[in-house]
Amino acid sequence: MNKVHAVITGVGGYIPEYVLTNEEISTYVDTSDEWILQRIGIRERRILKPEEGVGITYLAKKAIEDLRSRKDFDPLEIEAIIFATSTPDYILPNSASLIAYRMGMTNAFGFDLSAACSGYIYALEVAQAFITSGKYKKVLVIAGDVLSTITDTLDRNSCPIFSDACGVALLESTTDEEGIVDSIMRVDGNSLEHLQMWGGGSAHPASHETIDQRMHFIHQDGKVVFKRAVTAMAGVCEEIIQRNGLTKDDVNWVVPHQANLRIIEAVANRMDIPLDKVMVNIDKYGNSSAGTIPLCLWEWEKYLQKGDKVILTAFGAGYTWGAVYLKWGYNA
Ligand code: UT7
Repeated sequence: MNKVHAVITGVGGYIPEYVLTNEEISTYVDTSDEWILQRIGIRERRILKPEEGVGITYLAKKAIEDLRSRKDFDPLEIEAIIFATSTPDYILPNSASLIAYRMGMTNAFGFDLSAACSGYIYALEVAQAFITSGKYKKVLVIAGDVLSTITDTLDRNSCPIFSDACGVALLESTTDEEGIVDSIMRVDGNSLEHLQMWGGGSAHPASHETIDQRMHFIHQDGKVVFKRAVTAMAGVCEEIIQRNGLTKDDVNWVVPHQANLRIIEAVANRMDIPLDKVMVNIDKYGNSSAGTIPLCLWEWEKYLQKGDKVILTAFGAGYTWGAVYLKWGYNA
């Protein structure tokens, strides 16, 4: 009998209704539709309007409802909830606890996972380790962010990029061939200067000063992050292709984190994978951090075939990055 491993058996997603266009951004920072489209590849993005008074768990609940409309399962069967986000509703309690309660997943334990844009692939890594241990059979991965709450609308280097979205995946144990085959996860903390949010944690708790100094927003050195993102993602993808004896023709889909269309194109180029095999929706949805990869799988679910060889790759603050190689588990 084959070894037990983890397979994605259903996906769900949710994007807020409000469409923030490049034109609207051009009304509050010195930028243009043309610049954003050419340099980042985003036409519009979705934003959870602040007056709704809700956070990431609102998007997560909608995404789980969407998952349940596609894949029937009993919430009581969920044994673990891994919620990847950098924008939890609250610092405590964690968002997984709130979701467990609101969705009736009262037999589960759950926790939040902080790995910025790599949150989804990190969460898959943890979920598959739980499942291959033999102790857990059904694990819910939730990944998303409400980056609009930590985006500096006065900073034209970052405000056109960020957006809000959430995706979910149900992972189950299987002995079939399909499922997660291999993964490479990496971290390098020597990057604090280049991508961070200084305020709000225990190093610089919220104060008048942190607010005055705009320390509760993401700051990035875009050029430095750009170069590192390309080399890091291309590097782990090449490594995972090689060590699994794949050729580029074997790969059906590459699912990259959606940070910048030029980053995506550069990674695909280095991998020598044509763009029609690369999932790209940054033009419509922007960069929702942990939300981008599950949102691609949600959007492309109807095209994915059982057995398709898929490589997911992400890079984000930390730095955190990695790649997951999986064989898709079902036809929608
Ligand atoms: O997912 C989280 C991780 N983050 C990322 O992966 C982001 C990676 N970085 C990027 O995507 C890009 O570096 C940016 C989109 C942030 C910036 O694009 P760039 O092509 O690297 O621009 P740049 O920083 O080299 O700036 C070029 C010029 C500068 O003007 P000068 O100094 O040449 O006169 C900037 O001031 O473009 C200017 N600029 C803008 N102009 C119009 C920067 N932002 C804007 C803007 N509109 N929004």
